[in-house]
Amino acid sequence: MSMHVIIDCDPGIDDALALLLAAGLPQIELLAVTTVAGNRPVEITARNARQLLDLAGRSAVRVYAGAARPFGYREARCNLVHGADGLGGVALAPAGPIAPGAAALRLAQLLHEAPARSIDLVAIGPLTNLALCEMLAPGSLARARRVLVMGGALRVPGNITPAAEFNFHADPTAAQIVCQAGAELLLFPLDVTSQAVMAPDWIAAFGGAANACGMVAGQMLAAYALQDPLLHDACPVAWLARPGLFRTEDCHVQVDWRDGPSAGHVQAWFGERGDAPGAPNVRAVTGVDNHALLDMVAQAIARLP
Ligand code: RIB
Ligand code: CA
Repeated sequence: MSMHVIIDCDPGIDDALALLLAAGLPQIELLAVTTVAGNRPVEITARNARQLLDLAGRSAVRVYAGAARPFGYREARCNLVHGADGLGGVALAPAGPIAPGAAALRLAQLLHEAPARSIDLVAIGPLTNLALCEMLAPGSLARARRVLVMGGALRVPGNITPAAEFNFHADPTAAQIVCQAGAELLLFPLDVTSQAVMAPDWIAAFGGAANACGMVAGQMLAAYALQDPLLHDACPVAWLARPGLFRTEDCHVQVDWRDGPSAGHVQAWFGERGDAPGAPNVRAVTGVDNHALLDMVAQAIARLP
């Protein structure tokens, strides 16, 4: 039975691997992809998502562009870890058209048109689109079967400031809105994605790929691994296919949405801590069998054109 999945992303090379993984997993039916400003401006992340889906033979999957900047800020925070074009300078065929309509609106429509709790929503960039969707149509996120978010840092330091992970730092208000929305939320923080380490020989093996997607993956990863050797965004997609590869812990989280040195910091209360401000609101994913994860990604990409 296929899982109906929407991916909100900011490609970005690890987002690209997540999109290719999703396309290569037969149990996943991609309903749509929405994009957000994050690693690069939203015009670039939308173009990249379109090019990657076309490369993977998924031209029928529509791409919607979303928020160009986070709540409360005049401009997006981005980074050059993924190169100026967001994909490490890898040459891809020109992008097809981006579907009309704002991502947040489309997310709300798709979640309300589908039967309740029938869509898995994977969010692997700043959470601005999901928060806008929830503000426009309250209860939308709770209509998802599950909301799987790559973001935050619970028991480990941040990767963009000592206190915060990039996606939650890029839009801390959106992160707090999503975490408090009452959805069935699985959180993939740096605690687990820092275990998703790409071994150099695993990356090098893509050099001998017999397919275009494998060769492109190898070229992108060669550029990315020099900056960040972690497959952050593949983790939520991989969990959908094989949740048994991961360890989860229920906890209550609050995201510091205020401007300042702790913007985007996640305060987590694990277990039965009496001082928690509320019941557990996320299932935090804190461990992964990295060898099996890397095998899954390689095998999925080998199935693509
Ligand atoms: O902190 C890692 C996250 O920030 C990943 O989603 C990566 O693509 C960047 O968006
Ligand atoms: Ca991302």
